[in-house]
Amino acid sequence: MTRTIALITGASSGIGAEYARLLADDHDLVLVARRADRLGDFAEELRARGAAVEVLPADLGTHEGITAVTGRLAAGDVRLLVSNAGAGGYAPLVDVDPADIDRLLTLNAVAPIQLVRAALPGMLATGEGAIITVASLLAFSGGLNDPRAPRRTLYAAAKAATVAFTRTLTGELADTPIRTQLLLPGVVATEWNEGVGRDIPWAMTPQDVASASLAGLRLGETVCAPGLENQAAALEALLAAESALLTGGNQPTPATRYRGPQA
Ligand SMILES: NC(=O)c1ccc[n+]([C@@H]2O[C@H](COP(=O)([O-])OP(=O)(O)OC[C@H]3O[C@@H](n4cnc5c(N)ncnc54)[C@H](OP(=O)(O)O)[C@@H]3O)[C@@H](O)[C@H]2O)c1
Repeated sequence: MTRTIALITGASSGIGAEYARLLADDHDLVLVARRADRLGDFAEELRARGAAVEVLPADLGTHEGITAVTGRLAAGDVRLLVSNAGAGGYAPLVDVDPADIDRLLTLNAVAPIQLVRAALPGMLATGEGAIITVASLLAFSGGLNDPRAPRRTLYAAAKAATVAFTRTLTGELADTPIRTQLLLPGVVATEWNEGVGRDIPWAMTPQDVASASLAGLRLGETVCAPGLENQAAALEALLAAESALLTGGNQPTPATRYRGPQA
């Protein structure tokens, strides 16, 4: 059996570790995260399953860390990129340390784009490749005013950037053999956010999330929301709403309400 190489970020726990477990039977792996000790132990587990495993410790909240991973991707041999590393940094914006704004947006939004940019030349040259970017349903929570929801301005902004990036990229790559998938998990029971997901009754397991994503990739789904039963209808409604804004708002004159005597 020919093994292709998958690079997974955030592979030291949660959803990323489950992708690695599911892929280990027929892929060699490059595992990225900060905790080198955890990655080392995990690599041993995966090697026992026959995978060749490289451990690449890197902090993707820094440009040095991103460069370490893009340098590896520049070798051109990675055929599946799973850009999964992320952090919440939940807090009211006024309480966020300004340095953390850069760090969180770099990790959650800049790193996925830089990694895809680095992986694409090798994929396009060989005519084979798939890219999964892990966003979140919270990317669509800008209008949600539920006091139980986390304080999430930075996180929602970063994941919304990943949503727009991946969906637009899908169109850009439509005429190539490269497949893309935007993954939109809901609450998942991982170490995320001090593991609060483990106490939330509707949380999905990380195994189910990673497994649904890979099944969705095989089905040719460019968007995968693992818990969403009628995904096609939801995506159609999203497109219709986007089109109403995009086409409806692109007019040569301001809307009527801005031109009356009250305006
Ligand atoms: N859990 C949820 O409810 C949920 C819902 C929607 C979306 N998601 C998304 O799913 C993805 C995976 O999260 P998870 O739930 O599996 O949480 P998790 O168990 O906390 O895993 C996060 C992973 O990202 C890595 N990571 C964090 N900061 C990093 C950094 N600066 N540089 C490199 N790696 C870093 C962590 O490894 P190290 O600490 O070793 O660096 C870990 O491997 C994230 O993108 C998250 O936004 C999660």
